[in-house]
Amino acid sequence: MNCKTTGSMLLALIAISLGMTACNSLPVPDPDPEASVKGTMTVKMNDKLAISDTMFGIFFEDINYGADGGLYAELVANRDFECTPADNRRDRSWNEKKFWAVDGSGMTFDVATADPIHTNNPHYAVLNASQVGPRLINEGFGGFRYEKGAKYDFSMFARRQDGQPVRIEVGLLSDTGVTLASQTLDVKSDKWEKLSLVLTAKDGNSAADACGKFYLKPLTAGAAVAVDMVSLFPQDTFMGRKNGLRKDLAQTLADLKPQFVRFPGGCVAHGDSWQDDCYYWKDSVGALEERKPIKNRWGYHQTRGLGYFEYMQFCEDIGAYALPIITVGVDCQFSGGQHAVPMDQMDRIVQDALDLVEFANGTTDTKWGGLRAKMGHPKPFGLKYIGLGNEEQISDDFETRFKMVNDALRAMHPEIVVVGTVGPGASGPDYDRGWKFARQEKLPIVDEHFYMNPDWFVDSAQHRYDNYDRTGPKVYAGEYAAHVPRVNPRPNTIETALDEAIFLTGVERNGDVVVMSSYAPLLGKHGNMQWTPNMIYFSNTKIDKTTTYEVQKLFGANAGTEYLKNTLSFGSALDERQTRRVAASVVTTDDGDVVLKYVNRLDRPVSITVTLEDGRGIPASAKRTVLTGPVATGTEYTITDNYIKLGRTFNVNLPANSMTVIRF
Ligand code: AHR
Repeated sequence: MNCKTTGSMLLALIAISLGMTACNSLPVPDPDPEASVKGTMTVKMNDKLAISDTMFGIFFEDINYGADGGLYAELVANRDFECTPADNRRDRSWNEKKFWAVDGSGMTFDVATADPIHTNNPHYAVLNASQVGPRLINEGFGGFRYEKGAKYDFSMFARRQDGQPVRIEVGLLSDTGVTLASQTLDVKSDKWEKLSLVLTAKDGNSAADACGKFYLKPLTAGAAVAVDMVSLFPQDTFMGRKNGLRKDLAQTLADLKPQFVRFPGGCVAHGDSWQDDCYYWKDSVGALEERKPIKNRWGYHQTRGLGYFEYMQFCEDIGAYALPIITVGVDCQFSGGQHAVPMDQMDRIVQDALDLVEFANGTTDTKWGGLRAKMGHPKPFGLKYIGLGNEEQISDDFETRFKMVNDALRAMHPEIVVVGTVGPGASGPDYDRGWKFARQEKLPIVDEHFYMNPDWFVDSAQHRYDNYDRTGPKVYAGEYAAHVPRVNPRPNTIETALDEAIFLTGVERNGDVVVMSSYAPLLGKHGNMQWTPNMIYFSNTKIDKTTTYEVQKLFGANAGTEYLKNTLSFGSALDERQTRRVAASVVTTDDGDVVLKYVNRLDRPVSITVTLEDGRGIPASAKRTVLTGPVATGTEYTITDNYIKLGRTFNVNLPANSMTVIRF
């Protein structure tokens, strides 16, 4: 994460290779109806199916620096001095000093472990300056971005090491090394003490390659000082939360209007190993200095400053249900085979599940409800859903352990809706066995995953649920994305986004069996990618929304409470394969609006004569939003809004390769 290598040139190259293009507001010309393929549609305004209030959610995982260095607003990298060589499997040089360096001679920078702040945070730094001048510099997550006039909350734990008080200067540096803010504080105690101050940046450095830095400079020569949990947060976080989220990124997620947020993964939820990097939620709550940092399964360091409390707070802030995914005691089968927690240690796994409900919903006089209150949220979070497991191999070990956790939850917390898992693929042995097991256990919902080529979304996924059993568990399409084969990095194109949109029309049509869905993964930081494609790309200074994001937003912002049955036909104008490439769904929203969504994946415009049968009066006009792009395999797109004339019968003209939303 060298700042220079994530600078503007590389950023631009990555942006080009991923095809990021800002959406512009040039109007999309209406296609010529005469030259269009003609179709007819009938909507039965009174023939409805209920749609769940969790249909469109988001999948958040700390992959591609999605949390530390991403959504979590902490600016200091390795603030806890707990990076280890195990953190990054490709670069074993990582250690407790990672992202820190002294910028001159005359100061030692050591790492010590005697009498730490907490056993979960065993390492800290000891600075001893023989002269005043050298600074301990933090390079941040690819540099620091500072805004002119913005306030930054600095805090650290410190203690004097050899009896002498030590004065320390704390400062912000611009890309060119100019001091943007500085202040001093005194470390007087020989016990760990939390010290804090606020720095105001006199200038900003929000250029695309913002490479600012942050420093600590001892001003007392000849004295040693210990420091840990060195932290710098912009005050302007999302909803002004302390220990909060990066405002622009969190707002970008909120704009999707997600009905639920799944966290903390993905594979992060169970880790490579249940003994090592499994995300046990209890280690992610409480005072920051007492949380247990772990290696991230995707090859970096997780502070877990963004932990279960912060996830649930975020859900509450954006009006989304929380969907935590917890381990049932087996780890990732793709990391050297599946390993299971020994049966004599399963009590802990079961208890963790029960205690999670207490943490989220328990009264403040309970142990875990009390901790929630101490963390600033006495009111229950109202947790309703818990996911047990993430795409594990459905083995005997899995089934035994899943049953233990599920049975305990059912007995103690029947109010919690459990979401099971049916393995990593759209079909295959784990899928078959997972479904059989889910039916046997009468699970309410199961999580299906599919990363498939774009055509699969049109030819198979679109009608996947039409014939699903209506009496068994409901479906959560929990991880899906159209992957263009043999392209690296895999792009988000007009084609991939529209093919996913076609799939989502099928999901809405089958709202009686599919009750949740989320695209994955959500975030990818430029220069720090372990996986493509992602829904949103970002750097420290900018956010690149993909075509996928725009499609998800159109579905999220136009989510329905009821599906209106409809028929769409093209007679002999299109053959069977072409017909699959034009899809529609119609819903009513909770505020009584009617929304028609159309996807046209043909390279030709389509004109549809729509007839609205029965129902209430129809207004004279409706808002129309069109997402399209000049090249299906390209990433350039435009989104335009305008109004069209309505009536009982009206025409909708769909540009080639477009998604159109009509709302009235
Ligand atoms: O979304 C990225 C990964 O894909 C998830 O962590 C995992 O569940 C799936 O294999």
